[in-house]
Amino acid sequence: MNTRKSGKQSAHKETDGVKKRVAVIGATGSVGSSVLDVCRHHRDRLEVVALAAGRNAEKLAALSEEFGAPQLCLESKEAADSLSEKLASPQQKKVLFGASGLEILSQDPDIDHIVFASSGTAAIEALQAALIAGKEVSLANKESIVVGGMWVMPLVRGRDQLRPLDSEHNAIWQCLQGEKEKPRKIYLTASGGPFRDWSWENLKNVTPEMALKHPVWSMGAKITIDSATLMNKGIELIEAMFLFGVRQVEALVSPGSFVHGLVEFEDGCVKMLAGEPDMRLPAASCLFWPERLPPKADFPRPELSARTLFFGLPDEGCFPALKIAKEVMKRGGPYPALLIGADEVAVDRFMKREIPFTAIPEVVEKTLSAYPAGPPVSLDEALTVVEWGRRHCASICDKMR
Ligand SMILES: NC(=O)c1ccc[n+]([C@@H]2O[C@H](COP(=O)([O-])OP(=O)(O)OC[C@H]3O[C@@H](n4cnc5c(N)ncnc54)[C@H](OP(=O)(O)O)[C@@H]3O)[C@@H](O)[C@H]2O)c1
Repeated sequence: MNTRKSGKQSAHKETDGVKKRVAVIGATGSVGSSVLDVCRHHRDRLEVVALAAGRNAEKLAALSEEFGAPQLCLESKEAADSLSEKLASPQQKKVLFGASGLEILSQDPDIDHIVFASSGTAAIEALQAALIAGKEVSLANKESIVVGGMWVMPLVRGRDQLRPLDSEHNAIWQCLQGEKEKPRKIYLTASGGPFRDWSWENLKNVTPEMALKHPVWSMGAKITIDSATLMNKGIELIEAMFLFGVRQVEALVSPGSFVHGLVEFEDGCVKMLAGEPDMRLPAASCLFWPERLPPKADFPRPELSARTLFFGLPDEGCFPALKIAKEVMKRGGPYPALLIGADEVAVDRFMKREIPFTAIPEVVEKTLSAYPAGPPVSLDEALTVVEWGRRHCASICDKMR
């Protein structure tokens, strides 16, 4: 099988026996691992040619050896040097670092498909570069769209260039395939997290250990805490608004997370997408679309039952983070960027036991109310607003200690 061909001509020709050349940014994380597991089981179709992470040189070195990826990138020069020391044959690898390293990687003509599965805002410019270079993109990273949606979305060429990897947005993307009209309303489902039926009084005693035990999904720490407060669902609503250009976006509780998203059309019809709550499913759909291949040979078949198809409404009284994020979605301007910066710090301080679980929405809301300026007019300004949100929220948390 021919595995190497340079330039655009080789992209999307996997049915001709040419492998799709894939880069995974955030390769050492939870989503990155799901994506790489799909690549591992489809080596005849996918070739992993680049891997990037933050600081975990050891894990990136191991992945680079396993997949034979020739291009690697870490957050800093120090981490990149440490990675080079760990590689069996460093002279055969190109080791990049920092945001500029990610940008170089994103424009490489020998890469067809780039998965953005890193946390935080570090890869926004690289995402823009990949879209401008005409790459096929799978996007898990929510922060890029919530903070930079205004500047990222106009770069997208057609519905299939930017493929949402988050299970809920992937569901909406799949439901919209073949549709000409904009949907009337979008619903994203939430499992409800580990504290779905808890009272506010009980929520005050939640510890990081309790919040890190998600009933359905196994994910990175930040998103697991966000799922427990329902801030994650709020962030996803804002992301959906940018991704699909629809302002009517709502959350529904579906405890088994078997249904991921629903789309209501003008004629009153509703389409929904369901499947096992396993990130390898949306990953495979992004990597192979429009083909449908199981993530791996023995992937479990779906089970339909009354339990898996039950829906309820989230309790915004006990989970004010969702209400706050909905207000942010309505107000737009600097607020999405502020929300991302403030929530990042609030979750970190909760994990360090410096603020209680119920203070997370409180300190985020205080940060939003305190912002003195207007909307950002560029991505750079939006990133400055994120930083302002981080700093202001940190000072509020400091006073609570
Ligand atoms: N987990 C899920 O199921 C899920 C589902 C949908 C969407 N998402 C979204 O996907 C993103 C990742 O979530 P996660 O749960 O996979 O997080 P995670 O497990 O914490 O992994 C984060 C990944 O990002 C890497 N990273 C951090 N800083 C980086 C930088 N400056 N440059 C390049 N890579 C960097 C980390 O590398 P190190 O290991 O070196 O720190 C790690 O590989 C988040 O935006 C999240 O909201 C996650």
